[in-house]
Amino acid sequence: ASTAATSVSISGEVSSQLHSGYSHPLTRAWQADRQLTKDMLIYPLFITDNPDEETSIPSLPNQYRRGINRLVPFLAPLVRKGLRSVMLFGVPLQPSAKDALGTAADDPDGPVVQAIRLLRSRFPQLYITTDVCLCEYTSHGHCGILREDGSLDNAQSVDRISDVAIAYAAAGAHCVAPSDMNDGRIRAIKLKLIEAGMAHRVLLMSYSAKFSGCLYGPFRDAAGSCPSFGDRRCYQLPPGGRGLARRAIQRDMAEGADIIMVKPASSYLDIIRDAKDLAPDLPVAAYQVSGEFAMIHAAAKAGVFNLKDMAFESTEGILRAGAGIVISYFVPEFLDWL
Ligand code: PBG
Ligand code: ZN
Repeated sequence: ASTAATSVSISGEVSSQLHSGYSHPLTRAWQADRQLTKDMLIYPLFITDNPDEETSIPSLPNQYRRGINRLVPFLAPLVRKGLRSVMLFGVPLQPSAKDALGTAADDPDGPVVQAIRLLRSRFPQLYITTDVCLCEYTSHGHCGILREDGSLDNAQSVDRISDVAIAYAAAGAHCVAPSDMNDGRIRAIKLKLIEAGMAHRVLLMSYSAKFSGCLYGPFRDAAGSCPSFGDRRCYQLPPGGRGLARRAIQRDMAEGADIIMVKPASSYLDIIRDAKDLAPDLPVAAYQVSGEFAMIHAAAKAGVFNLKDMAFESTEGILRAGAGIVISYFVPEFLDWL
C-alpha cells in the first residue's frame, strides 16, 4: 500500500511540470495547432465608382475607399510583401446609383466588375474574392429585394443575388461570397455556376453564420450601406442563436458551399469551433469585422494594450477556435509583422 501511495505522489509531481513545454519562443509556437501565415489572410477593399477617389474612413482606422485608378498603386507593394487575397466591396457614390433592385451591383461598368478585371490582369497571382450583396446598391439599404411591407422577398432576392454572383464569376472572380443571408442562396448560386460552366473554377464561400449586432457600424460608414429603415434582425442571426448558426452551417454545406464563414469573429469563437466540428472537411473562415478592428484600435489608443500584440492575440484566438482563413483589416500590418 505504501509503494502505491509513493508512485501516485511522484506521478502527480511529474505531470505538474508544464513550464518546460513553453520556456522558449520556438516551443511556445509548437503549442499552437496552427500558426498564422500570410496565406490565411484576406484583405477587404472598398471600391468606389469615382475612379480617382481615395478617402479615408474615419470610423475604420487606416482604411480607405478607393477608386479604380488608385487600386494598383496601393496594392503593388502589398502584393510584393506577400498579399495573397483580397475581398472586394463596391461602394457606389453616384447619386443615381441606387434603386430598389440594386441594379448597380452587377453593372459591367461598375466598380466591382471593373476591379475584378483590373486586378486579374495586373496581379495574376492574387486571389480575388467578392462579397455578394445588394445592401450597398439598394435605395433602402437592405440585403435584398423588399416586399410592400418592408420584409425581404426571399425568392426574388435569391434570384437577383445569384445573378450578381454569376456576373462577378464571369468577370473573373475566383471566389463569390454571399453575405446577404437570404435562405437558399448557396444552392441557387451553385446551380447557376454549374449551369454556366464555371463551377470548377469559382469557389463559393458562404457567410453562413453571420450575426446581427453592433459590430458592422464602421463598415456601413465605409460602404454607405446602413438600412434607411428598420434593421437586419429578421435575416442576420440573433447573437444568442447558436442552434440557428449550426443549422445554417449544415444547410450551406448541403447546398454546396466550399468554405463556411463565421462573422463576427472574437465574440463568436464558440461558433467558429462549431463550424469546424460540423464541417471538418471544409476550410472555415472567420471575419474579424470592422467593429472589432475599430475597438482594438480605440483600446490601443487609450493605452489599454499595444496594437500589434492585440492584433496577434485576437487572431490567434480565432485560429485556435478553428478558423484557417481570417478576413481582417490588419492584413497590411500582418504582411510587415509576419
Ligand atoms: C454586406 C456586408 C456587411 C459586412 C460584410 N458584408 C455589412 C452588413 O451586413 O451590414 C460587414 C463587414 C464588416 O463590418 O467589416 N452585407
Ligand atoms: Zn448586405
